[in-house]
Amino acid sequence: MQISFSPTFATSPTSLLLPFNVLLFSVLVLLLFRQRHHPSKAKRLPPGSMGWPYIGETLKLYTQNPNSFFSTRRKRYGDIFKTHILGCPCVMISSPEVAKVVLVSQAHLFKPTYPPSKEKMIGPEALFFHQGAYHSMLKKLVQASFLPCVIKESVPEIEGIVLKFLPSWENNTVNTLQEMKKYAFDVAIYSAFGDNMEVEVKGIKCLYQRLEKGYNSMPLDFPGTPFHQAMKARKLLTETLRRLILKRRESGKHGGGLLGMLLRAKDHKLNGLSDSQIGDNIIGVIFAAHDTTASVLTWVIKYLHDNAHVMEAVTREQEEIQRIRTKDNNRGLMWEDTRHMPLTSKVIQETLRSASILSFTFREAVQDVEFQGYLIPKGWKVLPLFRSIHHSAEFYPQPEKFDPTRFEVPPRPNTYMPFGNGVHSCPGSELAKLEMRILLHHLTTTYRWKVVGGEEDGIQYGPFPVPKRGLPIRVHQRKKT
Ligand code: HEM
Ligand SMILES: *[C@@H]1O[C@H](CO)[C@@H](O)[C@H](O)[C@H]1NC(C)=O
Repeated sequence: MQISFSPTFATSPTSLLLPFNVLLFSVLVLLLFRQRHHPSKAKRLPPGSMGWPYIGETLKLYTQNPNSFFSTRRKRYGDIFKTHILGCPCVMISSPEVAKVVLVSQAHLFKPTYPPSKEKMIGPEALFFHQGAYHSMLKKLVQASFLPCVIKESVPEIEGIVLKFLPSWENNTVNTLQEMKKYAFDVAIYSAFGDNMEVEVKGIKCLYQRLEKGYNSMPLDFPGTPFHQAMKARKLLTETLRRLILKRRESGKHGGGLLGMLLRAKDHKLNGLSDSQIGDNIIGVIFAAHDTTASVLTWVIKYLHDNAHVMEAVTREQEEIQRIRTKDNNRGLMWEDTRHMPLTSKVIQETLRSASILSFTFREAVQDVEFQGYLIPKGWKVLPLFRSIHHSAEFYPQPEKFDPTRFEVPPRPNTYMPFGNGVHSCPGSELAKLEMRILLHHLTTTYRWKVVGGEEDGIQYGPFPVPKRGLPIRVHQRKKT
């Protein structure tokens, strides 16, 4: 979620390829992120190149393979280096211990930071934009809604979603990313609202899809631009959410999903959350849950395709569960089944490491911070580089190899952060993994797939790194042996 959960949050890489857009974009960025503070000359800044002013090294980041951008700089400068991304002076961090300082032990000195356009689209009261008491109050509520004991109830619903779309793949060519987006979106909507499908929820689904079209556009707000359309959809979303909230408040039954949880919430003075606090956090969670999970699922499908022995081993594990289900009155998947998928779980872990779809996250120094012998001036962005850590040969031998067995031994502390670390870490990690396990159960036992249009590897950003063209695949029934 990076919201930008990744840098890409701020703009789409394709738009960066056009020189005109680059110019426009850099001017915008200049206006949006003017550096408010000048570092004192006395202390030493981290080493590194700041690139061209304003455009900085952004172009390089989005045109090079993300692994090589980080690894060349890490080799040259070490675990802490400075650069310029999206017009901001940044310090990038690729040591697990230092990342822990930023995200966990000194988290109060480094606040989350997002481009203002993202805040407008998602809603300024969503938890990821906040620190301190407001953040921790909301975080507890959101976490409570995604605890294992809560999400275990949604296994039948999630399985139902899978069984609805999966048969349509047979003998067809599908775009994996697009299909996974639909799946992750349906699960996110279900987690947000529960199973009472009020008419308003249908409206919210449509409006959210309109909002989404503008997420990665340039933040130019005048008639006709995708951003403007998205902001219009966001206003309508606010109204529709308000109607739904009112309806649920008046009915006295707060209903299911995260919405139900937020409606029931009271602080110690027995004040409830306001409509906009609830609305912004609902949109925020749908946003955080959606493209992230879909991108990781797309990578799972690719890695299984590329590693036939892993595919067969996962299939054997899933067939065993299928056998038990069939014997047991042909019952559906149960939560307990999803807890007993050791190999499948390692495949998911390794996919999260290898794909590192959130290459890094953004924080901002709230004051001048002295740190590992360097000065980080107030207002500078600080980026823990999850991807660099996940691709360091020191922690993961042969890091470019897809090897689920590496997780037979737990990773060293602070070297595995696909869901972040510290106060802002992901509350949806268990749900995301559950969705993947349920899909893989039915997919591997029933189907096989071939990547369409060549097997050459390539990455595109949408906005997270995914296989080229969203991985079109041709799907057929598996020949049972
Ligand atoms: C595989 C899929 C997912 C990945 C890789 C992922 C990754 C992350 C990461 C790395 C962060 C921390 C960002 C930071 O520190 O700046 C985060 C935060 C968050 N994620 Fe996820 N996430 C995924 C799925 C989900 C799902 C399904 C939900 C739904 C509940 C969700 C909800 C959130 C929220 C609300 C935050 C903000 C937490 C905060 O600021 O306190 N994510 N996610
Ligand atoms: C898919 O193709 C196979 C082989 O041609 C055929 O046996 C099967 O019935 C087809 N499935 C569907 C759903 O059309």
